[in-house]
Amino acid sequence: MATPHFIALDQGTTSSRALRFAYDTQSQQVQLLAQQQQEFNQSFPQSGWVEHDPLEIWSSQLACLCQVLSSHQAEKVAAIGITNQRETLVVWDRATSQPIYPAIVWQDRRTSPWCQQQRELGLEDLVRAKTGLVLDPYFSASKLVWILAHVPNARAAANRGDLACGTIDSWLLWMLTGGKVHATDVTNASRTMLFNIHTGEWDQDLLKQWQIPASLLPQVQYSAAHYGTTATSVVGQEIPICGVVGDQQSALFGQHCLAPGDVKNTYGTGCFMLLHTGPQARYSKHHLLTTRAAQWDAQPQFALEGSVFMGGAVVQWLRDGLGIIKASGDIEKLANAVSDSGGVVLVPAFAGLGAPYWDAEARGAVYGLTRGTTNAHLARAALDAIALQCVDLMQAMQADLAEGETISALRVDGGATHNHLLMQLQADLLQLPVLRPTISETTALGAASLAAVGSGWRAAATPWQLTMETVTPRQDPQRQQEMATLRARWSRAIAATQAFSQTAT
Ligand code: G3P
Repeated sequence: MATPHFIALDQGTTSSRALRFAYDTQSQQVQLLAQQQQEFNQSFPQSGWVEHDPLEIWSSQLACLCQVLSSHQAEKVAAIGITNQRETLVVWDRATSQPIYPAIVWQDRRTSPWCQQQRELGLEDLVRAKTGLVLDPYFSASKLVWILAHVPNARAAANRGDLACGTIDSWLLWMLTGGKVHATDVTNASRTMLFNIHTGEWDQDLLKQWQIPASLLPQVQYSAAHYGTTATSVVGQEIPICGVVGDQQSALFGQHCLAPGDVKNTYGTGCFMLLHTGPQARYSKHHLLTTRAAQWDAQPQFALEGSVFMGGAVVQWLRDGLGIIKASGDIEKLANAVSDSGGVVLVPAFAGLGAPYWDAEARGAVYGLTRGTTNAHLARAALDAIALQCVDLMQAMQADLAEGETISALRVDGGATHNHLLMQLQADLLQLPVLRPTISETTALGAASLAAVGSGWRAAATPWQLTMETVTPRQDPQRQQEMATLRARWSRAIAATQAFSQTAT
């Protein structure tokens, strides 16, 4: 019997983490042995802009890795898996490994006018057919075009082949291997708006259209593959890197959602709901994205995805923007002080609206304020808003199901799943059981699991042992009526918010 160790590097939007797991090959049980986390700075240089320092991302990630390596020095690590915030783009100099500009983060909206131009050029359908995505600033392509156009000498250096670019996985791989490996996996590539999800290659037509030199781009591999080894000069030892996967696809894999109809929702900065659709790409009729799911052999895997930009970020706004709670965890107690939001509806379109609305210009709104409105009503409205945005995603997914397919439960993960009020609300609004794994680290588990597959320690289809708690939906008529009222108010508030942003100057 063997218990190899695997490390997942989970590079998220607000922090870098490293988690060390032991995997019992006989019982298929996983034990979390050690974890480290470091937050890093968020920079908002202009309205709608969001940037990270790639070197700070790297140093925080390296520090976490070194700490979990030293936690069990006597044991060798069989392989590392990388999972990461997706779409965020870094461009660096191949010779010096220095970024030429800060990372432009997935939340950044500066390229909204460029996306509008591309729509006016009639490219929307072509982009969707090739990449499965909508023309939105969310994805990496417009960020790359912006850097090539705005950073002095970037265009000339790119044309000379002096630069490399990539999502955060590529940047970490490059740094971990001492500049030897410039690669990415299919899930991350499928979020760039440059990757043809059908051929599994960078799309030459789109590269030409947007004048992007192919030499900038990383090599695309399966999510479970041998990517290279860490450089001794960097990490102190050589460890194989055998898994790379975008964080949402990692959670999908970590939750064992590997068959059509399996769906998970992650409550992070945003909320990301993914429905596995199997080996064929499926296009949504309800504005969801078609994206690659984790791939471990020659067979591509696909998912439908709905992303909402403000999930846990709404709670952070109550904490940091309004100051009505001290810590994010305080929201449940405050919201529980009232039985409902008192008719208050919060539409957290702070960075536009994601799926299924895709309205980059929308901005947040609060409706239904009275003299009786208190912080508790606002806290309650914030939780309602998180759950209601996810209801919109689920409705779109249910409408896109193939014949005979059903969604029988929603698997959940992420920080906010510890909020019982929110989880009960989610189950009641959806009238579906909500399944919460007792190991909440399913994103890291997905990457560690793929690293185990990539290093030959396990077969992809064999699930880890996951224990689930079920939140059962309340079905009494009064609760159902309350939920119907919430949903109806929400639809009116969304319509009013979009109408306002269209008339705003
Ligand atoms: O698409 C963006 C997503 O990958 C970010 O995830 O967990 O860093 O908020 P997270």
